[in-house]
Amino acid sequence: MSSLSTSTPGVSYLNYQFRCIGCGHTTETAAQDFRCANCGDLLEITYPYWKEAKLDGAQVKFVWQDRKISTSAVDLSGVWRFRDVLPVIEREEQAITLLEGNTPVYELPRCSIITGVTRLFAKHQGMNPTGSFKDTGMTVAATFARMSGFRWVACASTGNTSASMAAYAARGGMRSLVLVPEGKISWSKLSQSLDYGAVTCQLRTDFDGCLKLLQELVRKAPVYQLNSINPFRLEGQKTLAFELMEQFEWQPPDHIIVPGGNLGNSSAIGKALVEMRELGLISRLPKLSIIQAEGANALVRTLRETGGKQLISVPAETRATAIRIGNPASWKKAIHVLEATGGACEQVSEVEIAQAKAEIGAEGIGCEPASAVTLAGLKKLVKRKFVKPDETVVLVLTGNLLKDPDFTIDFHRGDMFADNATPGLNPLRHPPIVLDASLDAVMRTLEQAEHS
Ligand code: F0G
Repeated sequence: MSSLSTSTPGVSYLNYQFRCIGCGHTTETAAQDFRCANCGDLLEITYPYWKEAKLDGAQVKFVWQDRKISTSAVDLSGVWRFRDVLPVIEREEQAITLLEGNTPVYELPRCSIITGVTRLFAKHQGMNPTGSFKDTGMTVAATFARMSGFRWVACASTGNTSASMAAYAARGGMRSLVLVPEGKISWSKLSQSLDYGAVTCQLRTDFDGCLKLLQELVRKAPVYQLNSINPFRLEGQKTLAFELMEQFEWQPPDHIIVPGGNLGNSSAIGKALVEMRELGLISRLPKLSIIQAEGANALVRTLRETGGKQLISVPAETRATAIRIGNPASWKKAIHVLEATGGACEQVSEVEIAQAKAEIGAEGIGCEPASAVTLAGLKKLVKRKFVKPDETVVLVLTGNLLKDPDFTIDFHRGDMFADNATPGLNPLRHPPIVLDASLDAVMRTLEQAEHS
């Protein structure tokens, strides 16, 4: 199979297979539900030819770096730039790209003081074109949807997947169908899928109900499923880790911490880390830890109560609506990456999430509530001595602050928790102040603020 124009010696003839994560059965094609025809478990994409390819690590790192100064869209995309480790497309024009990826790594000096972790960073996936990490997976999966000849793509979502899917479908000339739980996702996210032209259905159920229905739909109608059950999504999301290692000059941090919802992203990042070590691009694995909201803690309970053997579904409830998921589809993949990297799994309360979000905001960065579980979780992992103060830690911030303004406004106005229940949060609150339009009033406010 031919590769793209900027070829990489040694890996230019890559191809992929689907492998069942349950029974190991491999196939060249997958059914629309992306489940194994033998045992019904999820599929992952593998690259059996890597072993023969004898990748030259130094050379491929150079090629990835070199593509940054190219002018072609696939080189400027922070996902397709790493196409040597992705399923191959035959022509560059086939890629549906919004120049996703290329997200910044920020130091977090104030959160560093709060946690005692001296080298603390945030990889901000909220800086993607539609404001969340979903774009990195969507560019790959939408591309393969169009290459397979689909006119319709569809997803169930807590809001970010749908925003991203709708955008990439629009860019690629496809129609999109969105299934979201009515009243349980942020209006900002919903507004994106409306603007990008999706048929947006607010279903009277939760996310898990939407996903179940979607899986029935794709067996009956010619629509291509773009949830993270689709392994092409995870291949794209995988590039976060490649980009991060490049930003760290291929010296892996000790810990990477991600939020856990449907558990696709943690699975993708973990897969990337294992692949990078197999390919000789890094010499050791960072520990990948997953943090959930207490009210949506299916993975935490699955590990605690069954040792990871059987999924414990929970009725999910959290104001971090992006991760309001009780029956995570990729739980087995996530457990596998926790084991492979030696990572931990934690849960955090609503108050801890709100506090951490305000602390990240105070760095001048901001993120959506689901992303803030990473900082809240880090505090717990430090307390457990799982993370040591002299280790390097990267928090993956999955969504932009502007994704959920209601949460932020309720927090700062003091409308979020019962009165007096959280006095410790008051120093973090910056409510808007309504004043007469007089110089005097503004001067007085300035003075009060100076002395507070
Ligand atoms: N953070 C944000 C901002 C998310 O939108 C999601 C998931 C997650 C974290 C969790 O990632 O599901 O891969 O474990 N959002 C999905 C959606 C479910 O529909 O937008 P995960």
